Amino acid sequence: MIVTIDGPAGAGKSTIAKLLAAKLGFRFLDTGAMYRAVTLAALRRGVPCQDATGWAELAKQLEIRFLDQRVLLDGEDVTDPIRASQVTAHIRYAADNPQVREHLVKLQQEIGRRGDMVTEGRDQGTVAFPHAECKIFLTASPEERARRRVRDLQQRGERPSFDEVLAQQMQRDRRDSCRAVGPLVQAPDAIEVDTDSMAIDEVVERLVEIVVTRRHAGLGEPGYKKLQEAAVSPRDDDAQELCLH
Ligand code: C5P
Repeated sequence: MIVTIDGPAGAGKSTIAKLLAAKLGFRFLDTGAMYRAVTLAALRRGVPCQDATGWAELAKQLEIRFLDQRVLLDGEDVTDPIRASQVTAHIRYAADNPQVREHLVKLQQEIGRRGDMVTEGRDQGTVAFPHAECKIFLTASPEERARRRVRDLQQRGERPSFDEVLAQQMQRDRRDSCRAVGPLVQAPDAIEVDTDSMAIDEVVERLVEIVVTRRHAGLGEPGYKKLQEAAVSPRDDDAQELCLH
């Protein structure tokens, strides 16, 4: 079963999707990390931002792996560097590049064929997995999302200003929604969940309910029971390795 979670920056997708996947015993795919890894590699190698072909060619050469919640780029742990503001500020050169998107979506679909997965991003329910059994669209107000991002950056040792983060986020929202390929739009069959006044645990419980209901509709009683049991007692061993290249 594929569960897609799409939504704007700061809606809590990564945190929620990770917890949901652990509860269900599903694999978790953070597709934003893939765009971030491509951006980090291009910046480090000095590929000019306007060189769309250079960015696409580089993306195809990279090996991006997910191992025990860490992101490895050609074997190096880049979990923290890919979240730096410098990477976020340049991410559009990867995200707006149709060839980069085509390549990364193909990789995402390959991973999806390996079995149950919760995948989060902007285009998972629309472009990468239009036939996913369960689609969620996670939202929150721009101010709440910016507050979360500020907290996140502070924990990483940065000193961001709220106004700057909010302005950058609104710009990113506009870009994400307006891009010609893979824009951020809610799939018609996605269920919207507004996380503004909800605690993380509440959101996860709500999503488990949605997934179980969807699974019930599609699988019948035995599959439903199995999923319900998995949701009650998550696997301890949720180590996973996803290899993309
Ligand atoms: O989710 P996160 O903020 O890490 O994503 C980084 C950026 O990657 C987003 O701002 C968005 O522009 C891009 N992205 C995308 N499609 C996805 C996931 C992320 O365009 N499926």
